[in-house]
Amino acid sequence: MTAPKDFNDRMLSLGLARVSEAAAHASARLIGRGDEKAADQAAVNAMRDQLNMLDIQGVVVIGEGERDEAPMLYIGEEVGTGDGPEVDIALDPLEGTTLTAKDMPNALTVIAMAPRGTLLHAPDVYMEKLAVGPGYPTDVVSLDMTPSERVRALAKARSCENSDITVCILERPRHEDLVAEVRSTGAAIRLITDGDVAGVIHCAEAELTGIDMYMGSGGAPEGVLAASALKCMGGQMWGKLLFRNDDERGRARKAGIADLDRIYARDELVTGDVIFAATGVTNGSIVAGVKREPGYLQTETILMRSKTGSVRRMIYRNPVK
Ligand code: FBP
Repeated sequence: MTAPKDFNDRMLSLGLARVSEAAAHASARLIGRGDEKAADQAAVNAMRDQLNMLDIQGVVVIGEGERDEAPMLYIGEEVGTGDGPEVDIALDPLEGTTLTAKDMPNALTVIAMAPRGTLLHAPDVYMEKLAVGPGYPTDVVSLDMTPSERVRALAKARSCENSDITVCILERPRHEDLVAEVRSTGAAIRLITDGDVAGVIHCAEAELTGIDMYMGSGGAPEGVLAASALKCMGGQMWGKLLFRNDDERGRARKAGIADLDRIYARDELVTGDVIFAATGVTNGSIVAGVKREPGYLQTETILMRSKTGSVRRMIYRNPVK
């Protein structure tokens, strides 16, 4: 029997950046064209092509959906050349399809890679999410606290007033009570229309983004991607799966989840070393969007490794054919 190949995260990370860059390049021509599906499809095709060039035995664990719903990058699809380490892949070829179609900020292409069996196989259901950046005591806030208790606890840990705290929340009718309660504490709220992977990542660079805490429900797959990023950048995150019906509970059981009420901390969503890459499609606070210049496209990618905590920002300029 041959020995399993190491997860050479150092070498693989540059390949991962190429994957997210390619997806951003492909969706660039669809920014502001009002066609979410076409933008997503362009990103999916490009991401898959690039992924299949990497020397990995990859399995998509967070992808475009179940096999019968998504012909490409579906959950369980094997990707890579088949020659290399066994890895889990979590991806969202275009996180913020509507943001892209409407040319609104913070659309990203996102991918994470980790040794096989170390990324939570989150089903496509909602997840209650809570995140803060690095530098706070462990469990400074928790999903068991009320939203106002979280604001007070974070303000206390920062030795500041509640009014100095900014919370990022997805603007949805289901979050009306959450928004009202957070406002009642005096904290500010940055409402985002989409893109909670970026929302969570913003907490890790609070000085740059002005966001101290992320709260609210969004896609569970996006939760695993956000946890991957925070594991590299530092910061705490918690997630709890939310189920609206038996079909969703069935999806979770099928994904191997036994305890449907479990609260996952960041390192339970991502149990090992992880590498993460995201490329800006539209401009955002973390990375710039695709820039068109005559004859060229330029992208910015954030590339990170949890093993070292290294964070690279890479500008890539490539001729357009
Ligand atoms: P898409 O890129 O698939 O459009 O997802 C965007 C997003 O805003 C995610 O960031 C978020 O987790 C999810 O949708 C929220 O779902 P919903 O729109 O149902 O509230």
